[in-house]
Amino acid sequence: MLDTIAHAFGYAVAFELHMPTTVWDRVWIGADLATLDGDIGIGHIADGAIAVRGEQIAWVGTRDQLRTFEWSARERIDARGLWLLPGLIDAHTHLVYAGDRSDEFAMRQTGASYEEIARRGGGILSTVRATRAASEESLLQHARKRASALRAEGVTTLEIKSGYGLELETELKMLRVARRLGADLDVSVVTTFLGAHTIPPEFAGRADDYVAALCAEMLPEAVRQGLVDAVDAFCEHIAFSPAQTRRIFSAARQLGLPLRLHADQLSDLSGAALAAELGALSADHLEHASTESLEKMAAHGVVAGLLPGAYYYLRETKLPPVEQLRRLRIPIAIATDCNPGTSPIASLLLVMNMACVLFGLTADEALRGVTCNAARALGLIHDRGSLRAGKRADLTIWSLRHPQQLCSEVGMHRPDEVIAAGRTLCRRGDVDG
Ligand code: NIG
Ligand code: FE
Repeated sequence: MLDTIAHAFGYAVAFELHMPTTVWDRVWIGADLATLDGDIGIGHIADGAIAVRGEQIAWVGTRDQLRTFEWSARERIDARGLWLLPGLIDAHTHLVYAGDRSDEFAMRQTGASYEEIARRGGGILSTVRATRAASEESLLQHARKRASALRAEGVTTLEIKSGYGLELETELKMLRVARRLGADLDVSVVTTFLGAHTIPPEFAGRADDYVAALCAEMLPEAVRQGLVDAVDAFCEHIAFSPAQTRRIFSAARQLGLPLRLHADQLSDLSGAALAAELGALSADHLEHASTESLEKMAAHGVVAGLLPGAYYYLRETKLPPVEQLRRLRIPIAIATDCNPGTSPIASLLLVMNMACVLFGLTADEALRGVTCNAARALGLIHDRGSLRAGKRADLTIWSLRHPQQLCSEVGMHRPDEVIAAGRTLCRRGDVDG
């Protein structure tokens, strides 16, 4: 009896004081949410609400579904008129490098091709010379500007490749800079070892020897130092053959590392098929990929990474096979490919626009390309890339009528606020960097 009274009394008190069962850190109420959580479209929830606790999204739904007696929040934000999206993800960059290649830009303006410049020792090798000579601090300082520019646009997860060292010390230096960028800017950095970007001058004419050294010494040491999250290679006539790529990838797999590949950018070497056979997370570029290769990608669940910046700078005329990607239901990611030669672009928003204008993607596809599908390309879809309870609280908040404006208008939008793991990283008007 006493028990029953105590029980009833307890409920009464809870009811009276609206005692919550959960305490959230922040809740935004009345916003339009683009959850990017379903199989198609942007997953719009009108008049929505989203709550964050600690580093995670705690709740997502409509305002009507919020039962006020079940929760309380340290901060409650009236978000009417705002759109909330996941943090953006740039899944393919080479943004740690020294020097610039504006001289080659000028050469291309007068008719020289990327391949010709590369064969004359320019291109990637000219950035290798500059990057080898640069101090770690100056590399960090320059890369920081590029990463900050991306972050100011809402990028909270960033893939960064090595590949301008092509010898152990410089590859390690680049990867350390990538890690330090993540810590300095509070963005998530996924590092990719791209020792197989091109053949270094020391090994000219001896590509197989370089591949052997890479597999036996460079890669294992970089992994031992905890600097490698994944492995990439440039499979192309001017770089590594499919057979060499296969060797590099089997070394990577033995070390338990995920793979991604620069595939079929300038010619069709069946790189995308190789990526599929070896279980890569993504095959990127793909302008020249064959139908057969794409079918293999579909069968193995490989993400297509489209890089409109490189297509644009190289004035490529062969479009990536967007229609076939759609037909085969291959997820499409979009990335800046930020690098000094073929895509000196530190703007994911610009690249989303290019993906629409140049490749014919819809705005929904472009938005998926920098959120859920970019997360898939990095093997992180369980943890980020959409607004869903339990995922990492990486959010961007925008004053927009509709998120498709992020694709249709250039230079007009910045997020009002960028949040990573529940913490505000920057607000509109903050001084970058
Ligand atoms: O993704 N294709 C190889 N790598 C880069 C180009 C790098 C460079 O030219 O420095 C790319 O386009
Ligand atoms: Fe690239």
